[in-house]
Amino acid sequence: MTEITTHSGHRGLDMAEPLIFEQGASGRSGVDWPEVELRNSRIGAAARKRSIGLPGLSEPEAVRHYVRLSQKNYAIDLGLYPLGSCTMKHNPRLNEKVARLPGFADIHPLQPMSTVQGALEMIDTLASWLKGLTGFDSIAMSPAAGAHGELCGLMTIRAALEAMGNARERVLVPDSAHGTNPATAALCGYRIDAVPSNERGRIDKAALLEKLGPDVAAIMLTNPNTCGLFEEDIVEIAEAVHAAGAYFYCDGANFNALVGKVRPGDLGIDAMHLNLHKTFSTPHGGGGPGAGPVVMTAELGRFAPLPHVIKSDDGYTIVEHNAGEGDRATNHLGRMRSFHGQAGVFVRALTYILSHGSDGLRKISEDAVLNANYIAARLKDDLSVPYPGPYMHEVLFDDTFLNGTDVTTLDFAKAMIDEGYHPATIYFPLVVHGALLTEPTESESKQSLDQFIETLKALAADAKSGKAEMFKNAPVLTPVRRLDETRAARQPVLRWRPAALPEAAE
Ligand SMILES: Cc1ncc(COP(=O)(O)O)c(C=O)c1O
Repeated sequence: MTEITTHSGHRGLDMAEPLIFEQGASGRSGVDWPEVELRNSRIGAAARKRSIGLPGLSEPEAVRHYVRLSQKNYAIDLGLYPLGSCTMKHNPRLNEKVARLPGFADIHPLQPMSTVQGALEMIDTLASWLKGLTGFDSIAMSPAAGAHGELCGLMTIRAALEAMGNARERVLVPDSAHGTNPATAALCGYRIDAVPSNERGRIDKAALLEKLGPDVAAIMLTNPNTCGLFEEDIVEIAEAVHAAGAYFYCDGANFNALVGKVRPGDLGIDAMHLNLHKTFSTPHGGGGPGAGPVVMTAELGRFAPLPHVIKSDDGYTIVEHNAGEGDRATNHLGRMRSFHGQAGVFVRALTYILSHGSDGLRKISEDAVLNANYIAARLKDDLSVPYPGPYMHEVLFDDTFLNGTDVTTLDFAKAMIDEGYHPATIYFPLVVHGALLTEPTESESKQSLDQFIETLKALAADAKSGKAEMFKNAPVLTPVRRLDETRAARQPVLRWRPAALPEAAE
């Protein structure tokens, strides 16, 4: 057999693992129960008459199954996770330790408030840090993810405009925006008006100014944007948006590049979500478990959803109903979810913040930006960069470097898997052809970045030297090769169904 060598020395994942139901056999068990005669007992009368198709496995089979499945996961704990726009950073184990303290892990949101004062203080302390780092007076802690935060932000803006008598009709969204931005605006009943990007990858200010008008409710701008670039005209944009009577919503998913350096509230932004599961570590994936608190001006804060935690002389209280004190309790737009937010994620994020302090957080963001620029500097001649930097937390490549090679960005990403890397984000943002977006974060050492860079350089050289076939076949070191991604998205099969259940035992 031909020995397959890789540039990185990794060999992908090489153990196929069937579903547990496909492995099970009747009569096999992980435990030995003594035979019990139930037939004539009262329990026996209630006993199942037929199998319900549970898989039968011995203990080693069950253990191996789950260990093998765990080995199939690519994780930030396994290697560099070069997704762009996702901030896959190391989650310090200290976060996990604190989140598992019984005082946090074993409490329930319906407990009497006097018994959960520490948890409420934790939420309030985190809220203060987030407001301080971003320069806002108000915050809604309950949204469960970035997209949910966007929904909270736009619903709050809509509520504020409605209170003024006119919800307006249009929301301006740059063409480089994450898909959740236009989806959110549409869900809030607004018409989306796309603003083009300019040749420098930033929003086209002239086009934006032209689109502003009395029917514009808000702009949704990401900063740094999804091309990894700082929107330099942001202060003038904020002024123009406000002059038109509209609100400035910022998608703060990329705040990791700015923490401790810039307070978005100082730039004229009115509301912004924070993906705690990105900027402030904490695990994320599969749509959760995350948290997307929204920081906002005091004016918008009056309309923000409940509940929120307040501190009084008697301790901490959760304001959950209209009966509470203050404007927010009477103007709020309702509740966005059950209870007060993702408490476990709050604990992790606050642990991360307190263990680094403001100076440490600033250093984190500097290192994240440095790492991204290091990748850009070392790869710009091997891959192709559509926009000149300076880059913030992530680097955007396009597919110009693949011209004439018959290799696509998708093929290139698949070849990364054989090298033992999770693929970078591809075909996003849409503003460049064949985008490949990568965000190393501050977690990576120079050694780890160099290994990644050398691997990508070697792959680019392979593509340019006519090895298209190798890319078309990739990945070859995985249990499954190329999947039908369109079918997987359009006809997802999310649960296993037995062909037929065995007949009743009797
Ligand atoms: C720029 C941007 N905005 C919004 C989101 C949505 O965040 P979430 O996945 O937490 O809903 C993402 C997620 O990747 C993002 O990158």
